[in-house]
Amino acid sequence: MDKIENNRALRALIAAWRKADQRIAFVPTMGNLHRGHLSLVERARAEADRVIVSIFVNPLQFGPSEDFARYPRTLEQDVAALESVGADAVYTPAVTEIYPRDLAAMTFVEVPGLSDILCGAYRPGHFRGVATVVNKLFNLVRPDVAIFGEKDFQQVLVIRRMAEDLAMPVAIVSAPTTRESDGLAMSSRNGYLTPEQRKIAPRLFAVLQDVRQRIRHGARDYAAIESAGIDGLKAAGFRPDYLSVRRAADLDSPRDTGDDLVILAAAYLGTTRLIDNVRV
Ligand code: PAJ
Repeated sequence: MDKIENNRALRALIAAWRKADQRIAFVPTMGNLHRGHLSLVERARAEADRVIVSIFVNPLQFGPSEDFARYPRTLEQDVAALESVGADAVYTPAVTEIYPRDLAAMTFVEVPGLSDILCGAYRPGHFRGVATVVNKLFNLVRPDVAIFGEKDFQQVLVIRRMAEDLAMPVAIVSAPTTRESDGLAMSSRNGYLTPEQRKIAPRLFAVLQDVRQRIRHGARDYAAIESAGIDGLKAAGFRPDYLSVRRAADLDSPRDTGDDLVILAAAYLGTTRLIDNVRV
């Protein structure tokens, strides 16, 4: 596996692959890789001749009081894990490689609307940071296909919209959420949880499933369904940011009974913010 740390070496590797007419799949990550990330790499393998993974904890997508400084950095284990699933290259740039100027002076990409609701309402600037770094990484890697996890459902839609609006020559593929045996969606942030919080954490998925059951059984008063879900989270010990029933296609409020729906939630256990979602 090639281990690349700067843009020049990256461009040389990509040029060689392109010259050999190889199809390139890309999996952007922030590292501290778990089975969820590795499932994306496996999906990428099935999509292309070459698979490249980036590991970059992107300061631009963290708010001033968020966990950028303490975000887990486990490069050695990550490289070993990527080797074991057969990635061809890992790209681990320093912050100055991606942002050579002051963050505030860098050009950015903004996907309006989609970036301002749900998680975007609680994390101002987050999706601008995500869109900007993913755009830059796409320009460096020039992938044919890029794989994203449905665990970050809103993120997938933001990236798809960006790629569509800016006619980016890349196919965006989404892959299902990998869960622990008790249902908890795998996440690097699960490592922040105390043993007691870790026991409560699977209730997030359980409450989302309860909400889905109600809808499947015909409930259509979404405001009531949402507030019952929020009460369920509070009763379990969470401090919810939101629990919301939305159209899967665009995260608008449901209108027709035929709408394809997704239930999304974000909630704190102590200082740890967890997100999850289920399709109806
Ligand atoms: P990160 O949180 O490291 O996630 C990298 C990719 O792994 C994302 O596409 C995410 O949706 C996916 N992923 C995370 N947990 C998963 C799980 N349990 N099952 C399946 N896929 C999972 O998301 C980011 O990094 C960043 O925002 C990034 C896109 C890299 C831009 O900085």
